Amino acid sequence: MTQIHTEPLAARSMGTVLDRVDGAEKVTGAAAYAADQHGGLPGRPLSLWLVQSTVARGRVLAVDAAAALDHPGVVAVLDHTSAPRLEDTSNGELAILQDDRIGFRGQILALVLAETVEAAREGARLVRIAEEAAPFEAELREENATYRPDKVNPAKDTDTETGDVDGALAGAEVVVEATYRTAYEHNNPLEPHATTAWWGRADDGAETLTMFDSTQGVHGVATALAPMLGLDKERIRVLAPYVGGGFGSKGEAHAHVVATVLAARTTGGRPVRLAVTRQQMFDLTGYRTATISHFRLGARADGTLTAIEHRVQEQTSRLREFAEQTASPTRMMYAAPHRRTSHRLAVLDVAVPSWMRAPGEMPGMFAHEVAMDELAGACGLDPIELRRRNEPGTDPATGLPFDTRRLMECFDRGARRFGWTAGRRRPGTTRDGEWWVGTGVAAATYPAMRQPGNVARVESLGEGHYAVSIGSVDIGTGARTVLTQIAADALQVAPDCIDLRIADTALPMATVAGGSSGTSSWGSAIVAAAQQFRADHGHQAEAGLHSEASALRGDEVERFSFHSFGAVFTEVRVHRYTGELRVPRLLGVYNVGRVINPKTARSQFLGGLIMGMSAALFEESVRDPRFGHIVTRDLATYHVASHADVRGVEAEWLEDETPIFTPMGSRGIGEIGIVGTAAAVANAAYDATGIRVREIPLTADRFLR
Ligand code: MOS
Repeated sequence: MTQIHTEPLAARSMGTVLDRVDGAEKVTGAAAYAADQHGGLPGRPLSLWLVQSTVARGRVLAVDAAAALDHPGVVAVLDHTSAPRLEDTSNGELAILQDDRIGFRGQILALVLAETVEAAREGARLVRIAEEAAPFEAELREENATYRPDKVNPAKDTDTETGDVDGALAGAEVVVEATYRTAYEHNNPLEPHATTAWWGRADDGAETLTMFDSTQGVHGVATALAPMLGLDKERIRVLAPYVGGGFGSKGEAHAHVVATVLAARTTGGRPVRLAVTRQQMFDLTGYRTATISHFRLGARADGTLTAIEHRVQEQTSRLREFAEQTASPTRMMYAAPHRRTSHRLAVLDVAVPSWMRAPGEMPGMFAHEVAMDELAGACGLDPIELRRRNEPGTDPATGLPFDTRRLMECFDRGARRFGWTAGRRRPGTTRDGEWWVGTGVAAATYPAMRQPGNVARVESLGEGHYAVSIGSVDIGTGARTVLTQIAADALQVAPDCIDLRIADTALPMATVAGGSSGTSSWGSAIVAAAQQFRADHGHQAEAGLHSEASALRGDEVERFSFHSFGAVFTEVRVHRYTGELRVPRLLGVYNVGRVINPKTARSQFLGGLIMGMSAALFEESVRDPRFGHIVTRDLATYHVASHADVRGVEAEWLEDETPIFTPMGSRGIGEIGIVGTAAAVANAAYDATGIRVREIPLTADRFLR
């Protein structure tokens, strides 16, 4: 397989609107998602239902399946004594049904297979499990979050320190010291998690596993399962033709995927289908930890920062370590000669926390950007001016120049578009009838990430048409459309000459649709394959000619710091008698490199802004520390912003196409929209009311004096 240095790509389709190439299938219902697969299965699937623990820690004493097995349609009940063994149990989240231990409430303890989904569900109700409860800890508190993790992603250093922070804070003319909190949040993509799986035999007699899974990365699922099942990765085929969102919760396989493949291993080749319920997602498919951020900002009277300290407390699970990188953006956002960041975790008997859109940046920048608003107030400065005075010349964390930053251009352009009134804020001075009115700003940032190991294949179909293959996934972002445009430009043909093939591990290796890295990682591989094809075959049109390649990186990551930036503006109204918050206006202006498809990109930004507003106003998972479970476990009690909540939202971006990070000039757009948005809302709510709330969600009760 060839690895090449790619040439920068000239834009023809890139930068123009192309309607989603899979739009018609989606809006007509023809698109078959993981739980919808009927054709091509080797038999009618059995339905699977999960039986879950009711204690937060302890042991399974006995499983009585007699009543369940008597129920019509129930075929089998599997528990830790009867489920197939796993060869690798090192992943404490995934190694289910291997022993009698219970690590959190809601853990999978038994599986019911039945001819119908109704029978499976009723069978699960009839399974009697005797559990022995043990003492547990399920509450994040400042006192118990003392464990220092091994690493936070993407950095290995959990703590950083530059200069004499304490000395600088002691000598500062202005100090802002405050603690900020963000709530537990659960990913709620439109399509719940689902898996359809079956085992078979290859021609050489080896066992094979085939599955449709709702995932952000088909190759990642196969890679994770292979050692657990004792199979070569090539014996596992994972397909994800359509995925209805993930927001990170489908970035890695969760235990329900293992449950499905273990159950399928017992059926003699008959497929097994599991559709995780919305309620079960609150137990099993990941969530964002709550965070506590202790901030200290030291500054001169003119607002120039001299010291930044950000000490984070959050939680992980005893089953497996996951440390949200909440202070990471603090390391590189603003100039300050002295800085300190740290992460400490409470190790709890709860499900393993996981990725949720902009893990780290979202809660971390909420805290940082509200703290900056407080500093602007303390210095009597316009909050945009405060940021201007603290723009770093180079990345404060690495000392490298940013390839492009242009944060202040985002603020200035946003200020004009929004109608921002410059000057010091006068909180609680504007009223419109029964509503206090305020405006707020915050900065956004997200690192540009490009994953190694991506391979693409280009094959001539004749007559100027090409099949372009890569095992990546479109989780609803528009990747299928955008990759088609990149392939078209790389082969210098029109987009309708490209037959893009994705979402199948039978296609070349691709990394996860996560970390806003998909377009950069997969697109670069497609450019490499196309340029290799031209090098191998020129413009010959003969069908069947093909080339495969991956893109080599140069030394640019040693020469530049790659991040995207943005400025978020909001108007907030707070009802003077009820405390109700409304957000009539939300605007984000971004510098993200080249925008490849303005239509799908705009949807990413708007979705991110809305999700940030949703975090600011509504989203909060409530865990009952007495029992260890999440109480808010549906979309009625865990409200996600919907149409009526969104009054006005707009996004725009700077023209930028620096082709240093990728040959396309793009840097990734999936996550930055959620970053900073909650802070902008909180800052606007303060501007409206004069009440500083340092915790999201900003519920109405906090604004009642
Ligand atoms: Mo995203 S949280 O990186 O899948």
